[in-house]
Amino acid sequence: MREQLEQILKRGLDEISSASVRDELENARIKYLGKKGELTQILRSMGQLSAEERPVLGQLANEVREQLTGAINAAASELASKAAELKIKAETIDVTMPGEKVEFGKKHPLSIVLDEIYDIFSSMGFSIVNGPEVELDYYNFEALNIPKNHPARDTQDTFYINDNIVLRTQTSPMQVRTMEKQKPPLRIIAPGRVYRSDAVDATHSPVFHQIEGLVVDKGITMGDLKGTLDVFAKKLYGNDTVTRFRPHHFPFTEPSAEMDVMCFNCGGKGCRLCKGEGWIEILGCGMVHPGVLRNCGIDPEVYSGFAFGIGLERIVMRRFNIDDMRLLFDNDLRFLKQF
Ligand code: DAH
Repeated sequence: MREQLEQILKRGLDEISSASVRDELENARIKYLGKKGELTQILRSMGQLSAEERPVLGQLANEVREQLTGAINAAASELASKAAELKIKAETIDVTMPGEKVEFGKKHPLSIVLDEIYDIFSSMGFSIVNGPEVELDYYNFEALNIPKNHPARDTQDTFYINDNIVLRTQTSPMQVRTMEKQKPPLRIIAPGRVYRSDAVDATHSPVFHQIEGLVVDKGITMGDLKGTLDVFAKKLYGNDTVTRFRPHHFPFTEPSAEMDVMCFNCGGKGCRLCKGEGWIEILGCGMVHPGVLRNCGIDPEVYSGFAFGIGLERIVMRRFNIDDMRLLFDNDLRFLKQF
């Protein structure tokens, strides 16, 4: 048995010192010191020895166990520190390497102008509301005095989801949604995407943006409408901007108008930019129709209001002299980086 023990010690130490990874070391531990390991088996058979042999061999066996355990622990910590060293080497950062360039984004031209419009109307006490792009026919048309079969629907060639649901063709439904929820005094703008079944060309897109405006209070007049929108035009295009209002028709306002600004390119003489007109139309507007107020539970005998709808793309195109609306939607960075 003594020979056996000496052999185990020798082989064990050899195997431990030649282990180059943790698994090999663990295998050696199991082989000698595990539950069914060689040394464990010898310790178990000690009972068969004579009373004189037992303490001597027992002590030797314990010494062998201690030596093997110590060797395994030492080898384990050596392997661990070697691994840590390798890891540190592999992860070394060269602080002298040039960093990766961070590309800063820019605002889209539509967002640049939309933010300006927010600022202008916020400064006049308007708040911003948002509404759904998938809209009920009721809000998009009916409640705005555009019943089924009304010819005004034709000019807004529409994407229907079913008989009662449309992709909104205008932001005007937000007038109704707002008046249903909040009672006057009201001063809001409602920006957003609108959809019409138009073919794409330089001045048309099936998706574009409008900014709706609505003011309702006691004693609101056409004078308030003209004053507010004139200030808007001056803040957007500069203090010497001249505006004019032309009578028009919208089913949900009475009277209705379109607002033009005098062409800032030719000063009203007529040029390529204003197509010889001298004026450029920038929005539709009017006094909220009494029927629309009534649809929203507001008494037109007590309250009155005005509304307006601005086409964002048009304003952006004129601002930056962009002659093709498609450029605003193509997401070509060579174009977008100019702003
Ligand atoms: N919704 C109209 C359109 O898309 C624009 C408009 C005109 C909105 C007059 C208004 C308004 O609020 O009063 O053509």
